[in-house]
Amino acid sequence: MKKGEIKIFKIDDLAHGGDGVARAENGMAVFISLTLPGDLVKAKITKIKKDYAFAKLIKVIEAGSGRIEAPCPVYNECGGCQLQHIDYQKELEFKHNNIKQLINRIAGIEKFELKDVLAADDDFRYRNKAQFPLKLDENDQITAGFYKRGSHDIVPNHDCLIQHPLINRILRVTLEELNKFQLSVYNENNLRGLLRHLVIRVGTCTNQGLLVMVTNGDDFIDKNLIAKTLMRKIPELKGVVQNINNEDTNVIFGKEDILLAGENKITEYIGQTAYLISARSFFQVNTMQAKKLYDTAAKYLGNDRSAKVIDAFSGTGSIALYLADKAEKIYAVESLESAVKDAEKNAKLNNINNVEFKEGLVEEELSELLEKEEIDSIIFDPPRKGLDEKTVDLLLASSIKKIIYISCNPATQARDLKKLKEKYNLVKIQPVDLFPQTYHIESVALLELNN
Ligand SMILES: C[S@@+](CC[C@H](N)C(=O)[O-])C[C@H]1O[C@@H](n2cnc3c(N)ncnc32)[C@H](O)[C@@H]1O
Repeated sequence: MKKGEIKIFKIDDLAHGGDGVARAENGMAVFISLTLPGDLVKAKITKIKKDYAFAKLIKVIEAGSGRIEAPCPVYNECGGCQLQHIDYQKELEFKHNNIKQLINRIAGIEKFELKDVLAADDDFRYRNKAQFPLKLDENDQITAGFYKRGSHDIVPNHDCLIQHPLINRILRVTLEELNKFQLSVYNENNLRGLLRHLVIRVGTCTNQGLLVMVTNGDDFIDKNLIAKTLMRKIPELKGVVQNINNEDTNVIFGKEDILLAGENKITEYIGQTAYLISARSFFQVNTMQAKKLYDTAAKYLGNDRSAKVIDAFSGTGSIALYLADKAEKIYAVESLESAVKDAEKNAKLNNINNVEFKEGLVEEELSELLEKEEIDSIIFDPPRKGLDEKTVDLLLASSIKKIIYISCNPATQARDLKKLKEKYNLVKIQPVDLFPQTYHIESVALLELNN
């Protein structure tokens, strides 16, 4: 097999990242995006590594079962979605199977209950937050979109099909206003230019919008006029914020926020619980599915009003506040100061008094909490990298009865379950689809202390 060679491949699997997988004659795995199991395709080899290779789809010769026409006109180029060419039912089957394989292979666990994926009622137009990089098009107009697969070229798109419709409208009106002024756009190669990103958040339940214009420096003289005009033209817009990011980084936000018009936050609901969300707060991007996720956590936690619970990696306190009436006391641990402040405000907003927020690292706060008090259950919702070794060791030395492990990365979850199985039985896993059309999936595992 050589780079540039064109070959016919039969796709027989779907990898965790959403690429179809074929086997070359030498047994090497070949990853081909935009394909699915059952496809017979013509593809060109683009990269060869030691144990695997990548190829670019040229033509589908025979379509596998579940292949559909992707509804998004820029789907083949844009890196935002990976599974639009697959029927949603089939997508759910792949996600289910993927979790099963990871738990079997990485965790080495065969005996557990794997529930059907909780599907989204809306598999399009569900995202409540978008972060658009900007560029100048061939007519020198500011345009926005998402990065091309595997690159930092922007594919313009002002009607992304997985975003809430209000996000797309705010984007279009904002671009129209920005284009009335002679504004420069940030260039990540020479670090020059003003406008870096537009970040738009909306409340799915409240239909409120918040616009953040991320700029390199503050040389933005028309900003107040633009912000006021946008507030007038988009009645749902609650506020316009400028965030200043002067760093040479891929991280979107800088440290300084300036309120240009209106308020710096919106309100959103998950069930009956209200949340204030500001420019940089973490909040699940799919509000309706987040409710199913938190309801699963609630079901697994049970309803013991005398229970003491820890919500580890608590963000703005969303889970702890949602479950507050299911325990006597919840300790919520989060490292980000601003998230803890938001969480405290959200507790007041909901008149909740039995959640105590602790700013700090889970791996440090946990040992203190476990020494101080007998904890009945812990809910983990870590970032993609999962739990660190210190936390796993603490759990293995503890006698906590129940662990509810929520993960946005089933591979690291499986790695952690492998270590935890020494002391904890994996009872069941409920996958929840928060990210239709993409390879991402949320997985809620219930673990109980071995007898
Ligand atoms: C996936 S988010 C969970 C948010 C929250 N549970 C929710 O549903 O909205 C992970 C959170 O963990 C925080 N975090 C990351 N590493 C941490 C650590 N070592 N200790 C405490 N918090 C951490 C991040 O700031 C982030 O808010």
